[in-house]
Amino acid sequence: MSKIQNQLKLAVAKAALAYVPDQEIIGIGTGSTVNCFIDLLGDQQAGKIRAAVASSIASADRLRHWGIEVIDLNSVDKLPVYIDGADEINCQLHMIKGGGGALTREKILAAASTDFVCIADSSKLVEHLGTFPLPIEVIPMACNYVARKMASFGGKPIVREGKITDNGNVIIDVHNLVITDPVSLETEINQIAGVVSCGLFAHRGADVLLLGCNSGVKTLLPYSHS
Ligand code: A5P
Repeated sequence: MSKIQNQLKLAVAKAALAYVPDQEIIGIGTGSTVNCFIDLLGDQQAGKIRAAVASSIASADRLRHWGIEVIDLNSVDKLPVYIDGADEINCQLHMIKGGGGALTREKILAAASTDFVCIADSSKLVEHLGTFPLPIEVIPMACNYVARKMASFGGKPIVREGKITDNGNVIIDVHNLVITDPVSLETEINQIAGVVSCGLFAHRGADVLLLGCNSGVKTLLPYSHS
């Protein structure tokens, strides 16, 4: 990661602090941008939230390191906000996520939260999703079956070597997909037996994107044609 990219991640992590409500329980995602956010929160505002629900064991460990309580989603009635990164995001705030392999728990937290605040550096904003290989979490016995299905969609599936998710499953990264309709493709992939979740976040995209650019942090809302 370049020094500039690192600075952009820090800048969006800082901007995300303004979206943290006082004395609530919030959802926290996974990845290097979120790590910046956790470190800022822990260092400067650890007492601001009551607790966090984390999308991965790695993020939970990092939160606990800062003395922030991590609780199970089943103990929570509401999550006002979920803060997470993305591997790619378009102007409708549809995303590809799962580069870190935490996509299923990320999808659950995104679904359970009122607002999804995505934090990303400018390299993540794309016109069309799909240059980043689409991660799919799969029940191990269905791995070859799902890979064949994804090949029939025109993708090149590659099983992520040595990766077992926090849920005990495998990840298939699908390269070369032409994603013209992220919402429909997400629906189709979700129908394949053995798929736990796919890294397309289109049905439930982000509500706001804090994008780190050389000129500063831009706040983007989902683009609407109307
Ligand atoms: C984790 O599984 C991913 O969905 C991350 O949110 C995504 O990979 C972004 O990570 P970085 O902040 O490290 O780019």
